[in-house]
Amino acid sequence: MDVKRHVNVQRVDPQAWPHGTPVEKAEDPDLGTALIPAERYFSPEFMALEWEHVWTKVWLLGGRSDDMPEPGDYICTEIGKESVLIVRQPDLSLRAFYNVCLHRGNRLRPEGFGNVESFRCLYHHWNYGLDGCIDHIPDLDTFPQGAPPAGRIPALPCGEWGGFVWFSLNPDVEPLLTYLDPMPQHLGPYHFERMVWARDITVEWDCNWKASVDAFNETYHVQGIHPQLKWYLDDINVQIDVYDRHNRYLIPFATVSPRVDLPSAIPPAIDEIMRKAGMDPAEYEGRVSDIRVDVQKFMRANGKRFGKDYSDLNDDQLTDDYHYQIFPNVSLNAHADDLMLFRQRPHATDPNKMYYDIWMFELRPEGEEKESDKPYRRPRHQLFKHGDKSIGQVLDQDAFNLPTVQKGMHSAAFEGLWIGSQEFRLRHFHKVIEDYVYGGRGSKQSGEKK
Ligand SMILES: [Fe+2]
Repeated sequence: MDVKRHVNVQRVDPQAWPHGTPVEKAEDPDLGTALIPAERYFSPEFMALEWEHVWTKVWLLGGRSDDMPEPGDYICTEIGKESVLIVRQPDLSLRAFYNVCLHRGNRLRPEGFGNVESFRCLYHHWNYGLDGCIDHIPDLDTFPQGAPPAGRIPALPCGEWGGFVWFSLNPDVEPLLTYLDPMPQHLGPYHFERMVWARDITVEWDCNWKASVDAFNETYHVQGIHPQLKWYLDDINVQIDVYDRHNRYLIPFATVSPRVDLPSAIPPAIDEIMRKAGMDPAEYEGRVSDIRVDVQKFMRANGKRFGKDYSDLNDDQLTDDYHYQIFPNVSLNAHADDLMLFRQRPHATDPNKMYYDIWMFELRPEGEEKESDKPYRRPRHQLFKHGDKSIGQVLDQDAFNLPTVQKGMHSAAFEGLWIGSQEFRLRHFHKVIEDYVYGGRGSKQSGEKK
């Protein structure tokens, strides 16, 4: 690779950091070099296979536990053609069921969240309890066949981890923590449950959901579409680890790319990182290549003073982007002070469209939380089409090519994705999809159980 090797990225020694988020490089499996077929991005047949073998088999992210602390609090979330209600019960446990009235098929609630005593269909006022059981049908004696015999809307598995609420459309799905493994061990130290939801946006994109997942799982595109980030992060010395179904990469931030000359002055974006950490860049006497480690040392020494508890995080986590993908559709940019989470959802009927959810969370200083008497307020949800509003410079850059990628994939001249080693996570992601779609992976667990 034609890049300068002036930056020696110092990383946490796994021996010196045996607890918390594992930092060891995982052994790379041999995933071959085959093309990833283009038709998987636009074929209705493949979309149907994904629905049958992936979306209805895995665990899916539904929402945030903070949105539903009290009995009767609920989240209504949509995935493909389905809509699901996840509801806090009187005993504070969670239950989930399909968001549909058994009478004429009306949806009981629009997407979002709220609090109810029961769910009443707005069409003929069939009424359901918080557990999804029918508790009233007006004029029941006019139904000679009686009430639907099951007496309830079909239930779905649900659970909580990391301050988030999860559900599955697969009644035989493995336990949530088994499915997420090893994410709880890796991500627990960030304590996402302590973070506050700061931004909630959904953008409709004209591309397949996998094109969006792909766009965030490699740093090869940084030199192509984010030239400004070359003075913010190291896009070359990136550790990639793939696990069973999930994967990650670790990107050094607060440094410069080996693709550029080491600047003598502090680049503006790194200046901002230093200020955010509480440092004064004007006072800084080291070299630009020393800043990353010096920011880590400063945050370690001063975190408590600023009301931030970083005790479970290693030094690299104080600056770097630990970026995880939880299969199939959750990407987490985990940082010491914030979490930028993306959820990529397929369109109900069109493989050329998707919904891109951006959820931003922030770690607020501990004192600030305690002093505040204000109740928790989550941000207002914004929904718009690609291009209608900016979603920030970097994400606008990421979004820019996706509609033309989607169009280009239909070309007779494009057989499939020609993947390089910097894009190893894409290869892994598509291998896991293949295992589910063609290998019956999502059915195996249920088969074992029976
Ligand atoms: Fe990007």
